[in-house]
Amino acid sequence: MAAREIAIAPVNPAMGAEISGLDLSAGLSPETVTLIREALLRHGAVFFRDQDLNPGRLMDFAGYFGEVTEYPFVKGLEDYPLVVPILKLEGEVKNFGGIWHSDTAYLPAPPMATVLHAKVLPPAGGDTLFADMTAAYEALSDGMKAMLAPLKALNSGATPAAAETRENRIEDSGKDAGGRQTEAFHPVVRTHPETGRKALYVNPGHSVRFADMTEAESAPLLAYLFAHQIRDEFTCRFKWSPGAVAFWDNRCTQHYPLNDYHGHKRLLHRVTLKGGVPR
Ligand code: SIN
Repeated sequence: MAAREIAIAPVNPAMGAEISGLDLSAGLSPETVTLIREALLRHGAVFFRDQDLNPGRLMDFAGYFGEVTEYPFVKGLEDYPLVVPILKLEGEVKNFGGIWHSDTAYLPAPPMATVLHAKVLPPAGGDTLFADMTAAYEALSDGMKAMLAPLKALNSGATPAAAETRENRIEDSGKDAGGRQTEAFHPVVRTHPETGRKALYVNPGHSVRFADMTEAESAPLLAYLFAHQIRDEFTCRFKWSPGAVAFWDNRCTQHYPLNDYHGHKRLLHRVTLKGGVPR
């Protein structure tokens, strides 16, 4: 497809952009890969509509941007173990990842990005919210920035709030983390390795306490940051449609799938891309 047919439309001023004019199941030219990567870095998340991607093609698309990596707690598809079904069934009330978070922030080297492809959607609802952690950081006062600068936070894969959202899938397709470390201290403010911009890197799903402090001591400041970082002006909302794809940067965004569609099935296929140690 000719490059001139590709259009990038911001979802709102904060973050997110829809890219039209691309068939992701076809091979991507180096120019198109650069265009998508630059849009991702600029907008934090990019979205595509009407993509006909089987799991292999989803892996191929993600592979243009990095190395696809494994999710620790839930099995992937039988033939594509790195493609994880993000599923809520008709009779379930919990949705997978249903808390603000950055994907697997508890790993020593969390994934740089995630690609999610819509397979089965509820008739209405099931949108995903995203929040820009660079904007959230930049909106803090100089005094708060200075206080946060030296801090590290413990991120855990076992917080009750996050574990609860995976319960149904652990029951039917859970797997042993295989000795992988699922707790890690990361800087509270990380510097994006590609843009050089600073972003808040604590999240309500995984961040437990600051290094060298108790949970009780950490709770007030964490609560402030958790509320601050999802202020409306830092967010965008993606309304899924059949075949839609969301591709987001975990180094500078968080996301929250709304759980407003009880009684209906929602299934998406997810792959994550290997990332570096946050600095
Ligand atoms: C996730 O946290 O990867 C799930 C996002 C979603 O279901 O929209």
